[in-house]
Amino acid sequence: MREEGAGLNETLERPAVLRLLPDLRGARAVDLGCGDGSLCRELVDRGAAEVTGVDPSARMLDLAHQRTSEGQVTYIQAFAEDFVARASSVDTVVSSLVLHYLSSDGFKAVIRAVASWLRPGGSVVVSMEHPAKTASLGAEPTLRNYADEGPKSTHWFTDGVVKHHSTLATICGSFHEAGLTITQVLEPMPTVALVRARPDLAVHRQTPPILVLKAQRGA
Ligand SMILES: C[S@@+](CC[C@H](N)C(=O)[O-])C[C@H]1O[C@@H](n2cnc3c(N)ncnc32)[C@H](O)[C@@H]1O
Repeated sequence: MREEGAGLNETLERPAVLRLLPDLRGARAVDLGCGDGSLCRELVDRGAAEVTGVDPSARMLDLAHQRTSEGQVTYIQAFAEDFVARASSVDTVVSSLVLHYLSSDGFKAVIRAVASWLRPGGSVVVSMEHPAKTASLGAEPTLRNYADEGPKSTHWFTDGVVKHHSTLATICGSFHEAGLTITQVLEPMPTVALVRARPDLAVHRQTPPILVLKAQRGA
């Protein structure tokens, strides 16, 4: 998916996620919805001692196994909603371009679970489709129906892909209710100079495509 979506993801989303990562030296990390494991490998490159990649797709995990030689990474086939880690045992949780597939109840439950896995002072970095995008799925590419939270069906390489729209207030509220403090927020969009070189990215100055949040458990 990431390869097919190259451009937006590689140019805007991944750099924003990497910018928000904490110091990972010696860290225990979990990647929810790890796909082919590219972010797991990046965490190891940055010094993580143990990384658990979680994804429900056998196909993606096959790819992940083929592409990963780093012994620090373990893959587990599970939905984020079903994965369990020991309380206070994880330094960093990441999740890149996954959480918009969860219902709002699933999202809240996962953020609550993440808060319980994090050690005091640990942090979570997530990227997701921006609510300004998920609001309008299935409609014209202008912001519409922002108040209508819930599942929306769209075409994403194939018809009938369901993504879930939550407002920014609901997303941030889920972190707050879980006892996490949001410490950084990014809305990566292409600069004017980048659009000059890559006119295909101009559309992402009209509507922010991605929301990236970092939140922390109190020390
Ligand atoms: C757009 S890909 C992103 C993969 C990877 N995080 C990356 O950035 O390269 C979305 C991934 O989310 C996984 N996924 C979908 N629903 C999920 C869920 N409920 N829990 C965990 N992963 C899920 C898919 O199998 C897929 O690998």
